[in-house]
Amino acid sequence: MKNLKNYFASAKKEKWAIGHFNFSTAEQLRAIMEAAAGLEAPVMAATSEGEAEFIGYDQAAALVKSYQQEGRAVWLNADHHKGFVNAQKAIDADYDTVLIDASKLSYEDNILTTSQVVRYARGKNPEMMIEGELGYLRGSSEVQGKVEISPADYTQPEQAADFVVRTGVNRLAIVFGNIHGIVTEQEEKLDIEHLKKIAAAVPDTILVLHGASGLSDDDIRAAIAGGITNIHINTELRVAYHDALAAELQHKPTQTTPYKFLAPSVEAMKELVKKKLELFGSSGKI
Ligand code: G3H
Ligand code: CA
Repeated sequence: MKNLKNYFASAKKEKWAIGHFNFSTAEQLRAIMEAAAGLEAPVMAATSEGEAEFIGYDQAAALVKSYQQEGRAVWLNADHHKGFVNAQKAIDADYDTVLIDASKLSYEDNILTTSQVVRYARGKNPEMMIEGELGYLRGSSEVQGKVEISPADYTQPEQAADFVVRTGVNRLAIVFGNIHGIVTEQEEKLDIEHLKKIAAAVPDTILVLHGASGLSDDDIRAAIAGGITNIHINTELRVAYHDALAAELQHKPTQTTPYKFLAPSVEAMKELVKKKLELFGSSGKI
């Protein structure tokens, strides 16, 4: 079976992207897995620090492992782990890969923390893929009104090149107009020309688009054409899950059986993941 690195190499060459979807419960992971299986798409499933604390690091890893043992092309990422201690927790729990997000620290401290995680991970598994983050990605994975952003937040191409060499990361989360979450009082618009400059500066690095909830399909297609090969979606999944659950509880207020009242949420998430995987061009890539 191809590993995650092999799939990223194909995605880069053929210009498509691997979808990355967050979960914090077993049925959310099942929705992601069913969508990916139906389309024969490789996929990344992920827990942020909060999501991992909720479901349990060992438990998230065991669930994903159970799908891998069935031969499914899925990899578990520790999403936006902000410091060494939690990144180490994920690595020790046998996550497949980690995003060490020290982007809020000074540039030199970001390099120090990221390198520390890279060293620890590769000491356990020399092939482990590690992602770093550079630039100021504002917002959070929820529905927000306005989030002020400016080109000063963007990832600088020359700094990206330096960062990749000094840390040894395989993937880089970058900022070029993207915002975490959905914004309702402004248009979220990617700066594709800036993306192309970053892509030219780090031609061998997997570029990751975070905060993809709320972006237009056209912007996502342009980002893939411009060099993005990994796309993170969280808020849209949370909204789909939440709205389906709220409607179901309103419609059937006496229903107390979780696998019954959660079924529409699973279906809603599954449909959304399918739509995104088709948009990313990853269906039929297994
Ligand atoms: O890593 C997580 C993603 O960047 C989530 O962004 O909530 O806008 O989909 P999103
Ligand atoms: Ca967004």
